[in-house]
Amino acid sequence: MTKARLYSGMQPSADSLQVGNYIGALLQWRDLQESYDAYFSVVDLHALTQPFDPAEMREKTRRTAAQYIAAGIEPAKSTLYVQSHVTAHAELAWVLGTLTGFGEASRMTQFKDKSQRYGTDGTTVGLFTYPVLMAADILLFQASVVPVGDDQKQHVELTRDLAERFNSRFGETFTVPVPMIQQETARIYDLQNPTAKMSKSAESDAGVLWLLDEPSVSAKKVMRAVTDSEGSVRYDRENKPGVSNLLVIYAALTGRQIPSIEDEYAGRGYGDFKKGLAEVVVSEFGPVRERALALLSDEAELDRVLAANAERAASVADATLDAVYDKIGL
Ligand code: ADP
Ligand code: NA
Repeated sequence: MTKARLYSGMQPSADSLQVGNYIGALLQWRDLQESYDAYFSVVDLHALTQPFDPAEMREKTRRTAAQYIAAGIEPAKSTLYVQSHVTAHAELAWVLGTLTGFGEASRMTQFKDKSQRYGTDGTTVGLFTYPVLMAADILLFQASVVPVGDDQKQHVELTRDLAERFNSRFGETFTVPVPMIQQETARIYDLQNPTAKMSKSAESDAGVLWLLDEPSVSAKKVMRAVTDSEGSVRYDRENKPGVSNLLVIYAALTGRQIPSIEDEYAGRGYGDFKKGLAEVVVSEFGPVRERALALLSDEAELDRVLAANAERAASVADATLDAVYDKIGL
């Protein structure tokens, strides 16, 4: 039986991924690659929509790919490639853009947020059409499933609308995908500001656990994480966001249930709990970091793997694009 297709990706917007990317995306991708024909992209074309340094872009792209592999995405099992290596993305995005209403695109809440941040002069047409490029990413591979955070749900809905619109206007061409939204317990918050999502693009990185941080640095960040004055290790998102966040990280990295961790630390202080979590973080990310650094030490080999995967991705993407051009008379 052929496996259903799955598509997801991340922007190469930092030197290192953070623990939220690992728990909220990579851990799931690693499991999902067993049951799906999975495509995981490093979406460098999307990364052009935020401020970036050309001298660093290629390196960040490589580092992101190396961290996918180090976290367990297997390039022999999944197709792990760099978006700009497959030219069909930009071509299909153009076609889909001609089917997207200006008002429809204007309703994307992420665009509204980001354009507010960048101002009129800093807001580009590329930022505006970002969701159309994302639709092209997904539809090129005929993906039926798209694992995303809930902030991307609206973009997947636009993708579905565009697929249905194209299919009804030009004939059955695209698989209409469904979003696979991560559970609330897979959402990680900033260790210093535990009501804000941990993010690669946080203003300060004091509360961000980077996958490629030295283990001693990660341990220190855990020990300094914001908690509360109650002193009991108990999950309560509303009243104890700091401790709850640490419990979620602990549970996700060990595969344990939160109540079992609460029991283990019952009657002990936050110091003990943080020490325990710091050990978990170091033992989980130490090896991931080592593997990523090893991959990065052989640039030619990593580039060879990415080129081979891009070729595999292009053969699927080009077939879709050919069908699209055929349907629309190009
Ligand atoms: P970032 O904010 O770090 O730049 P992205 O928005 O590029 O992250 O998201 C990349 C992937 O990582 C998405 O699948 C997203 O849902 C997941 N992700 C990012 N931050 C978190 C987080 N704090 N908790 C859980 N998942 C996250
Ligand atoms: Na981001």
